[in-house]
Order: sequence, then C-alpha cells, then structure tokens
Amino acid sequence: MELKHYLQFADLDAGEYAYLFERAALIKRKFKAYEKHHTLADRTLAMIFEKASTRTRVSFEAGMYQLGGSVVHLTTGDSQLGRAEPIDDSAKVISRMVDLVMIRTYGQDKIEQFARHSRVPVINGLTNEFHPCQILADIFTFIEHRGSIAGKTVAWVGDGNNMANTWLQAAELLDFKVHVSTPGGYEVDQAVAGIRSSSSYKVFKNPMDACRNADLVTTDVWTSMGYEAENEARKKAFADWRVDSDMMRAAKTDALFMHCLPAHRGEEVEAEVIDGPQSVVWDEAENRMHAQKALMEYLLLGKL
Ligand code: CP
Ligand code: NVA
Repeated sequence: MELKHYLQFADLDAGEYAYLFERAALIKRKFKAYEKHHTLADRTLAMIFEKASTRTRVSFEAGMYQLGGSVVHLTTGDSQLGRAEPIDDSAKVISRMVDLVMIRTYGQDKIEQFARHSRVPVINGLTNEFHPCQILADIFTFIEHRGSIAGKTVAWVGDGNNMANTWLQAAELLDFKVHVSTPGGYEVDQAVAGIRSSSSYKVFKNPMDACRNADLVTTDVWTSMGYEAENEARKKAFADWRVDSDMMRAAKTDALFMHCLPAHRGEEVEAEVIDGPQSVVWDEAENRMHAQKALMEYLLLGKL
C-alpha cells in the first residue's frame, strides 16, 4: 500500500471522507452490539504525547485494542524525545517497530519532519496549527444528528486556533461555510490554515452575527495548550466571545452546539449551553474513538 499520512484535514479527499464516515458508523454499530471487529490484529500503534490529553489518549488506545491491536505510549518526559534525540532518528527507529504512529506536539513542522522519516503512517493528534481527528469526529457527529454537512453553516466563536484552522480546511473540502468571529489580534490566517481561497468562510466582528442562522455553533478554550503565558491577556480579549443562550437563539432553531473539550464553563461557553438540549458534546467526544478506528484501518488497509 502507498504510504499515507494524516497530518492535516486536507490530506484526504471528499471521497475518502465519505468512506470514513460510513465506515465509522459501521464500526460504531458493531461496538455497541459487542461484535468483534479485529481488522488490525497484531498491529501496533505508537502514541507520542508532548502535550496533555484525555480524549485523544483514551480514544486511540481503547480504539486500537478494540481493533485487535496494541499500543505503546510515549511522552517527552519518559523517552529520549525529551532529551533532544533528533526527530529524524526517533522517526526512523520508532517506525521500524510499529505499524502506525500518532503524535500530539507543538509545531506542525515537527510532525511533518517526523513523517518525512517514518516508514509507517503518521496521524496528527493535535498540533498548534491543526486538530484533524477532532474535526473528523465533529463532522461524523453532525452527520449522525442532521445528515450531510454540505451546504450548511458552522459558526466558529473564539480563538483563530488549531480547531478553527481545521474547520476552514474541512469547509473547503466538504463544501460548507464557516462564519468566523474572533477578537482582534486572534484572527484566522488563511496561509496558516492552508486553504486556497476565502470563499468558504466569512469573518464577523460580532459573534452574535456569526451565529445568525448557523446549523452548528462551536467554540474552544480561550487559551490553547502551549499559550498559557498569554492567559490573562486572553481572558480580557475574549470576554465577549462566550457562547450563550442568546447566540444559540440567533442560530437556527435546530442548531447543534459542539466543543472539542475540555471546556471552561463561564469562559468560552455558558453552562446552560454546553449542558443544554442543543449540545452534542458527549456524542462528539465518544465519536473520536469510532472515527479514529475507521481512520487507522483506512491508513493501514485502505477501503475494505
Ligand atoms: N479534544 C481533545 O483532543 O481532548 P484531549 O486534549 O483530552 O485529548
Ligand atoms: N485548542 C485546544 C484544543 C484542545 C483539545 C488546544 O490546542 O489546547
């Protein structure tokens, strides 16, 4: 099989996503029915974490075991990665012993460098720039609740961060629109987001305007991992970018609310929204596992 990495959302095309969403639904049905699905028996996934995680760790680890495989968990603190072994050398060594590598790290350049020297597929488990596995799960969740996302509108309220960039890539590829509202100084950057044009997104100064008639309202923490030194400045800048019931009322009556989690109630979202009837955050979190199982299978075995 041709070596395929998943370093950003645009690494797969619309046809491949259509396959993955169907496959994730099948994998989820089998999981719920306690049916064995051991398509990756005897395969090993290495997971490298340079930042903290709950969902990504549990979903990849549990998912790989459910596929009949096994996992190796590495962090910067307990491996030579934290003692400046070159990325190229680490990639050459690790990828001779496992079938698949998932990495959560800082700069996108680091995961790209690792992938260049890897003999096996590399999956982005979050970088400063992108979080493709999360958007894969988010769109799968949208489809489960509302059908195809094509032609729909997603309102992004908050930081122009890794999640926002990935939504922009997904919109360009899967033919929907993103309404983006960020505070000044935290805007999305088309070059960083890696999109060809501005036709799939629209920028709004006022977050309420971004939410108007949206099919999905979504947000994320004000301060992402790695930016903690900016926490106080961000708290001031983002004070008006809190998703509340008024914003949800501006959206379509059947609009969904999503958040990749972890969430800070009272900061980027009011408790009554994230814990309210329009919120699908628990399905969204669970779907990380089903969607990533489909992704791991696809990278190793192709379409089945
Ligand atoms: N949403 C997400 O990636 O969560 P974790 O940081 O817990 O992995
Ligand atoms: N934007 C957040 C997402 C956490 C899952 C971060 O990068 O910390």
